[in-house]
Amino acid sequence: METLAPRLAGIGTSPAAVLRRRARELRAAGRDVIELSSGDLDFPTPPHVIEAAHRAAQEGATRYTNVDGTPELKDAVREKFLRRNGLDYGRDEVIVSTGSTQAIFNAFFATLAPGDEVIVPVPCWAPYLDQVRLAEGVPVPLACPQNNGFKLRPADLRAAIGSRTRWLILNSPVNPTGAVYGRDELAAIAEVLLEHPDIGVVADSLYEDMVFDGRAVPTLAEVEPRLRDRVLTTGGVAKSYAMMGWRVGYAGGPAPLIAALSRIQSQTTGGASSVSQAAALAALTGPQELLAERASILARRRDAFAAALNACEGLACPVPEGSFYLFIDCAGVIGKRTPQGARIETDRDFAAYLLDTVDVVVVAGQDFGLSPYIRASFANPDALLEEAGQRIRRACAALR
Ligand SMILES: Cc1ncc(COP(=O)(O)O)c(C=O)c1O
Repeated sequence: METLAPRLAGIGTSPAAVLRRRARELRAAGRDVIELSSGDLDFPTPPHVIEAAHRAAQEGATRYTNVDGTPELKDAVREKFLRRNGLDYGRDEVIVSTGSTQAIFNAFFATLAPGDEVIVPVPCWAPYLDQVRLAEGVPVPLACPQNNGFKLRPADLRAAIGSRTRWLILNSPVNPTGAVYGRDELAAIAEVLLEHPDIGVVADSLYEDMVFDGRAVPTLAEVEPRLRDRVLTTGGVAKSYAMMGWRVGYAGGPAPLIAALSRIQSQTTGGASSVSQAAALAALTGPQELLAERASILARRRDAFAAALNACEGLACPVPEGSFYLFIDCAGVIGKRTPQGARIETDRDFAAYLLDTVDVVVVAGQDFGLSPYIRASFANPDALLEEAGQRIRRACAALR
């Protein structure tokens, strides 16, 4: 099979997945690699969740489930939406998917005609762009520079909307910058959307439990109920409960859209794994104290690691309000030369330099659509972050 479908032209593997593989290869080759590039947390999946999965498998939860999720898990997701987001969804308004990745992809695949546009505030989680392309839509990246806190400005949104616009993606907390939209900011964006009744919104709240300093994390459909029937609110257990590999996500939205997502799911994956769904059920219905406990651990790591990086020559690190990533301005190292004489031209060059010289893996801002930055995860043990900070500092000091 040498001939690939035209729709695959220009579509790559997600940059984080590529780096994850590379870091594992280098480690297998004996290098002492520190991987700050991953969207994985170092926390374990809670023991009671693992036990629930084990029990479920032993008790026969090994068969196909409903394509859109088990009724028990769907009810738990509805209860989560109500408790956490003030969103009251019926059973036909939620779906469980193989990670929120699948729910988001299905939304584009279900609704985009060739040439339809999706406005994507950047920097962003890279797969949004390729998912839209795979669905034969056209992603319209909209720059959200640091001087606006990496957030979408309503005026920029208004200017970007055209006759082909079908969707806006609104991720909060934002991967990679950690920006969190406040209630007023969402209300201002909603004002623009109310002028355009045909535009839907994917509100991606996967990181909603990773917020710091007592901040609230409102979501769009909650802030502006008049948008309820055109917002698809997506999320999952991956980050909140450190269940990245279990592959369970969900979405809430209008029933006809949810039914369309389910149709695609029935023809592609058949739905999420039965055992993983039992695990997700235990996560959502079990003790929730760990969310705040883990967020406070992350906040402490954020502060320490941001301080360490701000002490590096040429780097400037804003302190994020949410997520578990630092998005570090590296303009100060661009144009410098490595001890070997190579010029650092781009953030990709800088990321490659860090990997080659001090075995630290970070993701270049270019991979999220905004340069010159690097993204580094602080969902790593304190000692590892301290070591990474020292290595990066050494690498920066060696540049001329
Ligand atoms: C912003 C954002 N949305 C969605 C996803 C997909 O997550 P999952 O499919 O594990 O739910 C990720 C993963 O890192 C992400 O960063």
